[in-house]
Amino acid sequence: MKKGEKILLGVIGLLVLITIIGGISMEWVRQHSDKPMFPILTHYDFSGDGLQGFRIYRQSNCNSCHRAVGSGTSMGVSLDGLGSKHDVNYFYNFLKEPEKIYGAKTIDHGTPPKDAAYVSALPDADLHTLAIFLSQLKSDQGSSSSFEPPKGESSFIDAMLDMWVPDLWRGQYKDIRIKETTNEKEGKQDAGSK
Ligand code: HEC
Repeated sequence: MKKGEKILLGVIGLLVLITIIGGISMEWVRQHSDKPMFPILTHYDFSGDGLQGFRIYRQSNCNSCHRAVGSGTSMGVSLDGLGSKHDVNYFYNFLKEPEKIYGAKTIDHGTPPKDAAYVSALPDADLHTLAIFLSQLKSDQGSSSSFEPPKGESSFIDAMLDMWVPDLWRGQYKDIRIKETTNEKEGKQDAGSK
């Protein structure tokens, strides 16, 4: 073997070793830690109709493209937490006339031959029950499907804002986190100064 080949092989071997050690340590930490590695920031509290909707959801094969209530495919759109973004009416109208609600072309929902075209053709009562189910998939503060940013300070969000927010916006829009932190830190100092 030439010297260059040995070095190359050595480097590849080292990378493989690091990957294996990394994988094993991560799995070990995951199993031995009492905190979940990724906090779960969505929840659901189904009413009778919501539960019935969940049943229809499973029978109607939505899981082949979606994820909800912690199961389904990770390949498509996750529905967990969406109920904090939209209401029953929105979901019903989306399921019935997706492109009208999106105001744009959809990929799978819509008219045949799209793969999820069968959804709009489900009985109206089923669509309504599905909409109730979807509206009960709630998100907690800080989840990607929530309008509320995570509690407390985040150097990551600060850095992102510094990097991406145009100066023009700073005067026009209010950082929705400011109320929370000023109230906590400086008491009611800025109350009244609008
Ligand atoms: C063949 C794949 C597929 C199937 C089956 C499917 N969906 Fe979808 N779904 C999508 C895709 C892709 C989108 C994004 C919109 C689009 O382009 O069609 C979407 C979007 C959605 C949205 C809107 C999400 C948002 O943020 O606006 C809801 C709600 C939804 N689907 C519910 C359902 C329900 C309920 C079923 C079963 C009755 C179902 N879907 C079956 C692929 C699918």
